[in-house]
Amino acid sequence: MPFDRQALDDLRSQADIARVISNYVTLRKRGASYIACCPFHNEKTPSFNVHPGKQVFKCFGCGVGGDVFTFVMRMEGVAFAEAARMVAEVCGLPLPETRVVAPEAGREADERERLLRLHELAARFFQEQLARPEGYAAREYLASRDVGEATLAALRLGYAPDRWEALTKFLRDHGATETELERSGLVSVTDGGSRYDRFRGRLMFPIADSQGRIIAFGGRTLGDGEPKYLNSPETPLYVKGRHLYGLHLTKEAARRAGFVILVEGYMDFLRLYQGGARNVAATLGTALTEAQARQLRRYLETPKVVINFDSDHAGQAATRRSFELFLEQGFRVNVLRLPEGKDPDDFVRARGMGEYRERLKQSQPLVEYLADMARLEHDVSRPAGRAQAVNAVLPYIVKIGDAIERDLAAERLADRLQLDANAIRGELRRAARERRAELAAETVEAATKLTLAERNVLQAVLAHPPLCAVAFAELDDELIDLLPGRVFFRAARDVYAGGGTFEYDSLARAVARWQRAETRTDARGQLDFFSDSDAAASPLDLEMENYVAELLLRAEPPKNEEQADRLRAILEDGLLALQQWRIERRSAALHHLVRAAAESNDEALALHHANERLRLKRARLAALHNRQKRS
Ligand code: CTP
Ligand code: MN
Repeated sequence: MPFDRQALDDLRSQADIARVISNYVTLRKRGASYIACCPFHNEKTPSFNVHPGKQVFKCFGCGVGGDVFTFVMRMEGVAFAEAARMVAEVCGLPLPETRVVAPEAGREADERERLLRLHELAARFFQEQLARPEGYAAREYLASRDVGEATLAALRLGYAPDRWEALTKFLRDHGATETELERSGLVSVTDGGSRYDRFRGRLMFPIADSQGRIIAFGGRTLGDGEPKYLNSPETPLYVKGRHLYGLHLTKEAARRAGFVILVEGYMDFLRLYQGGARNVAATLGTALTEAQARQLRRYLETPKVVINFDSDHAGQAATRRSFELFLEQGFRVNVLRLPEGKDPDDFVRARGMGEYRERLKQSQPLVEYLADMARLEHDVSRPAGRAQAVNAVLPYIVKIGDAIERDLAAERLADRLQLDANAIRGELRRAARERRAELAAETVEAATKLTLAERNVLQAVLAHPPLCAVAFAELDDELIDLLPGRVFFRAARDVYAGGGTFEYDSLARAVARWQRAETRTDARGQLDFFSDSDAAASPLDLEMENYVAELLLRAEPPKNEEQADRLRAILEDGLLALQQWRIERRSAALHHLVRAAAESNDEALALHHANERLRLKRARLAALHNRQKRS
């Protein structure tokens, strides 16, 4: 066996079997697994199963089955070593290292086994100490933090007594050698060479691998001692950034829920777990790694994560740093930001689990979160500021692998920054193609507020008010709400309905009114810091008024019948374009719904949405056809 066993295990568990196999056959999702027609024998109905959670495949027709390596060996007709190499390459994972001397690999595996046993012994020791009189202070501490018996048992919390050789002696008595003690990271060595307990007088959190085997510990002081948390050093068992705290307890719940709530700390995990949110894992305060993201992905059919790090500065910086990794791994990302610098533990203790769940439901899709952050950093009342804001978000959107998701993200961004979605989307496609993450400033400027169709419609009615009847009959509220220039349309409709004439004063006042209403609704329910909406609205008003002036200046009243006809044609073209645009947007949304329904295997619903989409398509063609007949 030329490969290190541990490295092979790592590769097997990190390689996504479904992804590897999907390079050869088309997989269809069914429940927790995928099915396909078996590539190893000839069949019409699929009996070939791939189970990503268990990392195995099996054909119930011809009986072939195995792991990712077996699959590649059979498929490519190669030997094991070659298959392992191919898998590593396809998945972009490091190649398992070649071992020159086989016995050494055996020795290493043995050492791991012994260290695992040592950790299991230590965990039991700490648990026992917690129950003893010596553990009184720790029990008090746990009670003061409202940690229940059941939680304590499930997480296997313990107590490291405040003595120098308690654990060291215990492990020695159970046959641990001096080398093992040292290698375990549980014991420290003085300069003089004597060994003593690394963890003393601390509340102990065992850290397990995804199978629940204990590989390290974190210990918290019971008071204000430093450091607050002391963790195991890296050992042959424990490599920092390879594991997520608590996942062995929560992976099944995560699969059922369809997403994982990712938190930073031991106590955050504990609090949510105790509160019954069982789809949680913790990063333990270090930067998220690719290995961790991959690990999470393995337990989710469609990878989705809600990042709920501390709302302090460091936590938010960590939040932002994790985005790229998650997007690259194909995750849908939501961000949950709790108020007042609270971490999940603080929040739940202060407000209760019910309110936490409410907040969780309102967690923001990544793009909205980014757009809101960008709005705080840039002056989005100016086109240049909007361009900067878009450019701050775009690098993340470009990373979204799925084209439809990417379009939807662009749409959300446009919505958030009141830009025209079509322009952003088009530019985004180009940027994605060119692997560019900057949007030209002109594009943003052009996308600002009014599309060409909107401008034409507005100018036609402003130039020739009798056209208002036609225009506003067709522009219903739903359509107007979708338009980037909705405030102008609402304002014009008000002036028209009030019997007024389109003059600078009347129109500007109506625009300002709608603009204010807009800023307010925009702030509602969003992040706390948008409550200062009036201050934000005033510079915007100025720019809007410039727009009004410009629109009115360009609106030339018709001098004869021919010019009036031309305006009417411009209006009709514009209205048609707006209607088409609405259909497109709905159609995109429906497309998304069809996919979501298909993913959750709701065929009836998928069919329903698909039919609705077809209906829209027909309506669109019919409208175009009518228009052609007229002209
Ligand atoms: N951490 C660590 N070493 C430290 C401080 C923090 O390893 N000296 C890790 C721990 O895993 C901790 C996480 O970073 O859980 C988050 O740190 P922090 O927010 O400071 O701790 P809390 O989890 O909030 O812990 P507590 O509520 O007990 O203060
Ligand atoms: Mn805390």
